[in-house]
Amino acid sequence: MRIEFDDKESPFFKLEQLSSEMFLHGFFCSVAEYNDYLIYNALRSRQDNIALTWVLRKRGTDDIAAYMSLVADAIKLSVAEKELHNLNYPFKTIPAMKIAKLAVSQPFQQVYHGIGSFMIKAAHHTARMCSNDYFSVRFLTVDADVEHNKNVLSFYKKNGFIINNELQNKNRKTISMRLDLYS
Ligand SMILES: CC(C)(COP(=O)(O)OP(=O)(O)OC[C@H]1O[C@@H](n2cnc3c(N)ncnc32)[C@H](O)[C@@H]1OP(=O)(O)O)[C@@H](O)C(=O)NCCC(=O)NCCS
Repeated sequence: MRIEFDDKESPFFKLEQLSSEMFLHGFFCSVAEYNDYLIYNALRSRQDNIALTWVLRKRGTDDIAAYMSLVADAIKLSVAEKELHNLNYPFKTIPAMKIAKLAVSQPFQQVYHGIGSFMIKAAHHTARMCSNDYFSVRFLTVDADVEHNKNVLSFYKKNGFIINNELQNKNRKTISMRLDLYS
């Protein structure tokens, strides 16, 4: 079954901030590091104001289908990259919001198509709300984890992200990408 993001309520899922009442040990995705992060580090990161985690849970059972952690970010763009987005400014650094972690539960992935994309659209929506009402954010960013998931670039490209040429990590464990929230 394909699920689609709609900024109103989904009939199947609910997106909520991570809380200490949630049962996290049942979450299982293909990368152990991402399971451990949710179980052992996500709440602490929230308490320390380092990252805010959002959890997608199935209505009725409360099983966790996916989570993402969001943080404030800023990206450096070259002159050519700025031109691509019609950003005619003398400075290189542009405000952004980063998806610092994103993972979909394997059992849910087998039943539903589009959960990862749903989470990206939810992050997009959150960034736009911040930008409209609180502070400006131009891009949604991600460090695509090609070390654990070598084809993950195509997932992000399908969701509208492009590669940041200015900001490439030399060790290539991750690839920095951006999505223009206003293009
Ligand atoms: C990467 C991940 C978030 C994708 O979630 P998902 O729910 O499977 O993604 P979607 O169903 O929304 O997929 C959207 C499209 O991207 C494609 N896609 C998804 N994951 C992909 C991957 N790893 N490689 C290539 N293509 C992928 C899908 O086939 C789909 O294409 P289609 O619409 O043409 O059929 C999920 O596989 C995951 O949690 N992986 C483990 C953790 C991880 O790697 N997180 C990313 C860290 S940067």
